[in-house]
Parts: sequence; C-alpha cells; structure tokens
Amino acid sequence: MTLVDGTTATPTKKLGDVLEIRGGRPLRGQVDVKGAKNLATKAMVASLLGSTPSTLRDVPEIRDVEVVRSLLEVHGVAVTEGDEAGSLVLDPAGAASAGFEEIDAHAGSSRIPILFCGPLLHLLGQAFIPDLGGCRIGDRPIDFHLDALRNFGAVVDKQPNGIRLSAPDGLHGANIELPYPSVGATEQVLLTAVKAKGVTELRNAAIEPEIMDLIGVLQKMGAIISYEPNRVIFIEGVDELRGYDHRSLFDRNEAASWACAALVTDGEIFVKGARQYEMLTFLNVFRKAGGDFDITDDGITFRRGETPLKPVKVETDVHPGFMTDWQQPLIVALTQANGESVVHETVYENRLGFTAALNKMGADIVVHENGLDGDYRRVPRRPLEQAAVITGPTPLHGADIVVPDLRGGYAYVIAALAADGTSRVSNVGIIRRGYEKFFEKLSDLGADFDVVG
Ligand code: EPZ
Repeated sequence: MTLVDGTTATPTKKLGDVLEIRGGRPLRGQVDVKGAKNLATKAMVASLLGSTPSTLRDVPEIRDVEVVRSLLEVHGVAVTEGDEAGSLVLDPAGAASAGFEEIDAHAGSSRIPILFCGPLLHLLGQAFIPDLGGCRIGDRPIDFHLDALRNFGAVVDKQPNGIRLSAPDGLHGANIELPYPSVGATEQVLLTAVKAKGVTELRNAAIEPEIMDLIGVLQKMGAIISYEPNRVIFIEGVDELRGYDHRSLFDRNEAASWACAALVTDGEIFVKGARQYEMLTFLNVFRKAGGDFDITDDGITFRRGETPLKPVKVETDVHPGFMTDWQQPLIVALTQANGESVVHETVYENRLGFTAALNKMGADIVVHENGLDGDYRRVPRRPLEQAAVITGPTPLHGADIVVPDLRGGYAYVIAALAADGTSRVSNVGIIRRGYEKFFEKLSDLGADFDVVG
C-alpha cells in the first residue's frame, strides 16, 4: 500500500487496526505511564547475562515487550509474571541456542534482536540475528554495532537472511569511539563489555536516561561501569553477573506524546508517573509553544496555556537535547500555532515523511530535504538532516490516513482528534507496539472514536 507520503506500508491487517475518529473534543483526564519501552526491552535482554533469575517491574504491556519475551523464550529463558502486577521474572538457567526459523518467526517487527549478540556470545559462544524490522525512519543501519562486536573479538558473518556471529576465543575488552552517540550501539557495547575479559573504554557514548537506567540494571547485576564526563564510559569486565530486581524508569516518550495531545486538542491531561528531570528540554519547548504544566510528586498535568499556540524553532538532538521521538506529536500541535515554526530533524534521515498526511488534513508544512540554516542553530549540521517549516494556525479537517510508524501514527491520531469532522486511521496496530492500552487511554480521556476494522 502506498502511503500519502509516497512510502509504502504493508499493514498487518487485524482487528483493532482501523479507527474512525470524530474530532473536535478536548482530551481530559488521567493516563498512567508505565516503564519505558526503550529501557524495559533492553533490561529483558540483559537478563541473559545473569546466572540467577531477574525481576523487572513496571513492564509495559506492548508488542515490543512481547517480541523480546518470545525471543528470550525461544532461547530457553523462562519468562513468567512476577508477584507484583506488571512485573516479569526472567530465568536464564535453561538458555540455549535457537533455530533460525524460531528466531525469525518472532523477531520480524523489532530492532531489539541486534542487542542479543553480546549476551548470546558470552553464554553460548555464537549467535544468529535475522534481518531487523522496526519503524521505517531512515535505513536504520547497524554498522556501529557490528564494528563494536568485531572490536570485542567476535567473528561477524553476514548471511542472506541475517548475521551469524561467533567468538571462538571469547570476548575481550575494547577501545571504541562511536562515530555518533547511537543509543543502540551504546547498549550493544554495554551488554557485551560487562563480561568481556579486561577493560572497555567507550567514547562518544549515548547518555539518554534509558541508557543510564540500563547502566543501573547492569550495576545491580554486579557489573563495574563508570560514567565519565564528555560521553566516556569505562567498563571493567567481570566473570559472573547475577540477576537484578529493577523498576524501569517511566516512558518519557509516551508522556511527551500525551502532553502534545493536550496541547493540540486544548485539553488537560495528568500523566501519572511522569518526572520533570528526564523531560526538562521537552518542558521548555512545551511552555515556549504556549503550553502550561503543573509538576507534582506523582506526575505532571499538561494543558494548553494560550490560544492560539506560539510558533517555535526546535532542533532534535541526542540527550540532553530535544529528543527525535518528541518531534512528531509536537509538529501536530505547531499546526495550530500563530506563525512559522521550524523543526530540524538531525538524528534520523527520514522522519518527516509523516507530515504529508497532515497537509492532506489542512496543515501547511513544507519539508526541506537538505535541512535549513538559522542563526539560532546550536546542533552541528548533519548531511542527513531535514527540516519542516510549519505555518499556522491552519484548521485541520478529517481525512483517511495510514499509520507509517510508531510516533508518526500517534501524531496522526491526535491530529484526527483535533480535526473538524471524521477521519479513518488505518494500520493502527503499529501504534500499539509502543503505547500500552492505547485505545483504553484514548477512551478514558474522552476521545470520540470507534474501532471499525
Ligand atoms: C533508539 O533507536 C530508540 N529505539 C528510538 O526510538 C530513538 O528514536 C533513538 O534511539 C534515538 O534516541 C529503541 O530504543 C528501541 P540510534 P536506535 O542508534 O538505537 C544512526 C521509538 O519511537 N546509526 O541512536 O536505533 C542511525 O541511522 C524509537 O521508540 C548508524 O548510522 O537509534 C540514526 O541516524 C524510534 N549506525 C542515528 O545513528 C548504527 O549502527 C541514531 O540512531 C546505528 C545507528
């Protein structure tokens, strides 16, 4: 199926995949945000490194977690519900190699399998990783991962349907400098270095809150990891790690998404579990765009402070900058700002394609494929960057749209909720990969929609 932005999607047609949304009602109420999708899935992989069972708490009930659970189970890890609601117990005692068919059958829709390399090489001396899935936002290469694994002493053999790795002489510490502070590559190094023989020095590391939480998980297991200034991380390999007991940090991407929903629908949403520290940069932009928020010990209430909203100029960046996952829902809100906003996407090479569908709904967004300069720019220009110029306010009207990726899909739903008239949003299954109880939360907030397909 060709999407409105010219890309193609092969929607996984199943019940709960098409929403009919009637716009014009503000979202009001509370949503409970559980553990971060982009930590919980990695902490689950880390359980392979322990010699005893691990317990992970506040695990979100989302597709990405199910994919990792299945991959762990095909590798012999016993995964069961813990005594506390939303917790998992992961017991690696029975871990063993898995067949390609089994791995491929479960891995299809995620990029997480690439993070199994280090743990499986430590455990079994070999690993097979099928070609990766994940959202289509750029070509999502894994060269940093493979270069790092070779640096640890792994033999990497690319095959037609995936990658076979082996470590006949075990894995040793390495000196690694990442060409870019990649989240996934940093996780790859952490999950491999903790049991490699010797010391690993990682430079130009990603330092997102989810990375720091993963370091916390590994430290609980007995790893020796020191976090130095200027994106340097030292890891002293140890022979054995034990299981962990960890409560994942909250999902700041989900929290930011609901904040933008409140902004664009002129509603008010209490996001239970959201914390200020991990959202400082988002909160600054939210307020500059005309939003308002109240912070308490157990969450953050987001609402629109001014109407119409105010235009902003934002550059996405690695942490502590404005996160790339936040720009898509924000752009929907900026269609209602009074003036010209600019969003520079500097992390991914193709994450503004979703705006074509917003233009179909009445927005005025121009994407500059080679990015834009500006005297306010602080993030170093990257060849792959693009920029969206959003001119508002433009009333949005209902349309038929197909979800392209996780955050773009969420953006489409809140655009439909803010639009005048009815929209049909299909391929919604992608959104449920990363947003727990998505339909229930929409309904609790007063959204007017039906599941029609
Ligand atoms: C993680 O993706 C997150 N996904 C993304 O969230 C998030 O947007 C991203 O980090 C940035 O914060 C998960 O954690 C599952 P990267 P990841 O490696 O690790 C280039 C969501 O919506 N690169 O930091 O894949 C890459 O092309 C998802 O929850 C290489 O060139 O991101 C990109 O331009 C979307 N070679 C840049 O680095 C490599 O080997 C950042 O990618 C690896 C990355």
